Amino acid sequence: MKQVKAIIKPEKLTEVREALSKAKCYHGIMISDIVGQGAQMGVTQAWRGEKYRLDLIEKVMIDLVVSDADVPTVKKIICETARTGDIGDGKIFVYNVEEVVRIRTGEEGEAAL
Ligand SMILES: Nc1ncnc2c1ncn2[C@@H]1O[C@H](COP(=O)(O)OP(=O)(O)O)[C@@H](O)[C@H]1O
Ligand SMILES: [Mg+2]
Repeated sequence: MKQVKAIIKPEKLTEVREALSKAKCYHGIMISDIVGQGAQMGVTQAWRGEKYRLDLIEKVMIDLVVSDADVPTVKKIICETARTGDIGDGKIFVYNVEEVVRIRTGEEGEAAL
């Protein structure tokens, strides 16, 4: 099992979630509002002619724990739906998940996903 953590532009959340849901490749999802920095370390913006630096940019973090077999599909769907081609489109991190327990039933492993 793997945890797929995707940091995306907030305006892409609905599209990404609908595409993942349609592909039936996940069992649950966690969504968090975060702020972060990527390679550009923020952006320079202008307001009423004044330039100012915005260090931390609002992003949405999506976490899914899925079977190994579903990882390529999940990555592909997120890449295809979250991409605008502009900087700040986000990133996907994939981690190993050692154990999952469904508290209600005591089921473990993929049965508990
Ligand atoms: N190496 C990293 N470690 C932790 N978080 C990261 C990393 N790279 C990107 N992020 C997170 O992903 C968000 C989007 O990154 P993005 O600007 O698209 O990446 P990059 O500028 O590196 O191509 C950042 O705001 C930050 O929250
Ligand atoms: Mg960036």
